Amino acid sequence: MTRHTLLKVSAATAATAAVAPGAALGDSERPTARAPEMLPLTLKVNGESKQLNVDTRTTLLDALREHLHLTGTKKGCDHGQCGACTVLVDGRRLNACLTLAVMHQDAEVTTIEGLGTPDNLHPMQAAFVKHDGYQCGYCTPGQICSSVAVLKEIEAGIPSHVTLDLVSSPEATADELRERMSGNICRCGAYSNILAAIEDVAGSQKA
Ligand code: FES
Ligand code: FES
Repeated sequence: MTRHTLLKVSAATAATAAVAPGAALGDSERPTARAPEMLPLTLKVNGESKQLNVDTRTTLLDALREHLHLTGTKKGCDHGQCGACTVLVDGRRLNACLTLAVMHQDAEVTTIEGLGTPDNLHPMQAAFVKHDGYQCGYCTPGQICSSVAVLKEIEAGIPSHVTLDLVSSPEATADELRERMSGNICRCGAYSNILAAIEDVAGSQKA
């Protein structure tokens, strides 16, 4: 059998296999597709109240990107593994791809678009520019939202996996920052510059 005939036979077999299950069912036995369940949802996004009507399966990430056209929040994996979708919800960071929009009725959501504007950058955005904390920029919105939350977590005395002293307040040391930022992947390898940017903001917040 030539390679060409083999490909033809494989394609025909695959087509038969794909058709067979449906063909075996009568029209009355076919499962009917259920209409999506829709729910109204109010979110306060970057200070503005937004009314949505979403399929209950819609993630917060897709609600932001597809419904509200806030494309600053990125989708790198859609599985909670890269951190590109990190936003602040009621002041705490979370992976917007791992949570359903309808779970956040009336929540305050801050995305990268709400942290600062090109003319009035948030100090963390300015520090990322100053220290070259990015290259392609795709992980950057998530990195910046995460960094802002990390400094708040340290300030609130929340320990991390590398905090040795669980009695005193944690400090914004390089180890603490690296550990706390480890859920945000950067394939451009901007990690040292990201660390420098966060240390800069942490230092000026202290001063
Ligand atoms: S897109 Fe949410 S963690 Fe990767
Ligand atoms: S800047 Fe490109 S992935 Fe981080």
